[in-house]
Amino acid sequence: MGSDADASARPWSPASWRSFRAEQQPDYPDAAAAESVLRQISKLPPLVTSGEIEALRGQLAEAARGERFLLQGGDCAESFDECDSAHIASVLKILLQMSLVLVHGTRRRIIRVGRFAGQYAKPRTSPIETRDGSTLPAYRGDIVNRIGFTPAERTPDPTNLLRGYERSALTLNFIRALVDGGFADLHHPEYWDLDFVRHSPLAQDYRRIVDSIGSSIRFLEALAGQEIAQINRDDFYTSHEGLILLYEQAQTRQVPRREGWYDLSTHFPWIGVRTATRDSAHVEYFRGIVNPIGVKVGPDTAPEHLVWLLETLDPKREVGRITLIHRHGAHRIAKALPAQIEAVKRSGHTVVWSCDPMHGNTESVVPSEGPWAGKTVKTRKFAHILAELEQAFEIHRQAGTVLGGVHLELTGENVTECVGGARGLSEVDLSRSYRSQVDPRLNYEQALEMAMLIARRMSSRD
Ligand code: PEP
Ligand code: CO
Repeated sequence: MGSDADASARPWSPASWRSFRAEQQPDYPDAAAAESVLRQISKLPPLVTSGEIEALRGQLAEAARGERFLLQGGDCAESFDECDSAHIASVLKILLQMSLVLVHGTRRRIIRVGRFAGQYAKPRTSPIETRDGSTLPAYRGDIVNRIGFTPAERTPDPTNLLRGYERSALTLNFIRALVDGGFADLHHPEYWDLDFVRHSPLAQDYRRIVDSIGSSIRFLEALAGQEIAQINRDDFYTSHEGLILLYEQAQTRQVPRREGWYDLSTHFPWIGVRTATRDSAHVEYFRGIVNPIGVKVGPDTAPEHLVWLLETLDPKREVGRITLIHRHGAHRIAKALPAQIEAVKRSGHTVVWSCDPMHGNTESVVPSEGPWAGKTVKTRKFAHILAELEQAFEIHRQAGTVLGGVHLELTGENVTECVGGARGLSEVDLSRSYRSQVDPRLNYEQALEMAMLIARRMSSRD
């Protein structure tokens, strides 16, 4: 299956993925119950609209040409318990602050895409977990099962799909209401201040940027004699890994007066690195939807395979359709990325190149002192994240391509999950406020600092 050169000639339906190899799917004890949930979600209203999806595609086409910059970020995985106003607002605030810094440094418009309103599923390296001699299914994200180590919590339950859909709708409803109410209004960046902004070593730099943008806006408005409407509000788009195919299938619809099938569970789904194989059900599903899509690219993605993916997923060569999100790790990017770029260039496809400097830089450390001394903790070093990004800019510059975006795992909260950054967090500090159940995220200050360093780098090269 899936080995033909011309996949676009094969019929496709929202369910055609079922005859391919579907990795990382929950093993529901009652398959009929899962199909019944699928039918229920199929009848419910979509989470996003085709018009929004098309607007994002247009903006991504501009990013592919170097006219915009994509900022994609949020939690590694959302959790049902953290679907609350403070958590949602803090992710919006940090994305807004970062985009302000980026717009100032890059002089490009920023496309803001959250890893939210559906980022509830996680791919796992092992399908099982063993603790003290007992083995249970691995935790696959709240949309599948729960984190507690009991058989009841770990057994995949299809009603979680419905709860994930509902939580996504609640999240989006709140985001839309905030944006409509002027939350993203550039005239009021003070709305985005997080409590601890005043105490941050970066506060002064950030204030300077805010003041400079404020005075530019006042100047332009004085010239125009009116408020500039377009900068009053800007949009957030949603994204998640399109991992659980039943969930994506349930919201795959045709829309009046438009061609093709839209995945209306999110604006911008992506294919993870573990599920982009040749016979993959995920590739089969994604090839038939018309959304702009992300494809993760790792150090082991062979250049020929990458070209096959592009031919299969983007046979019409639409600019804005594909964003390649490369995630090699600071120590492997220099070896792997140049050949991947060359292969894509030769193939004639125009893509958005985005760098995820998180997933290739995850490591386990064992703090030597403090409450977690001797325990194994998953973390990422700020210096490695930055080193991968800097190499990405340079490799693209040398290849004559542009790095059009970044993909980060971050939170607006003051967590201690990644080490390094302006405040010099160390391994000993990790125990203070480590909240992620999955991958370690940049905290508020580390995320803002990353945006400042990217902006500086981009302004010095333009
Ligand atoms: C992720 O983005 O959370 C993820 C699992 O990434 P990848 O597929 O690149 O490992
Ligand atoms: Co992750």
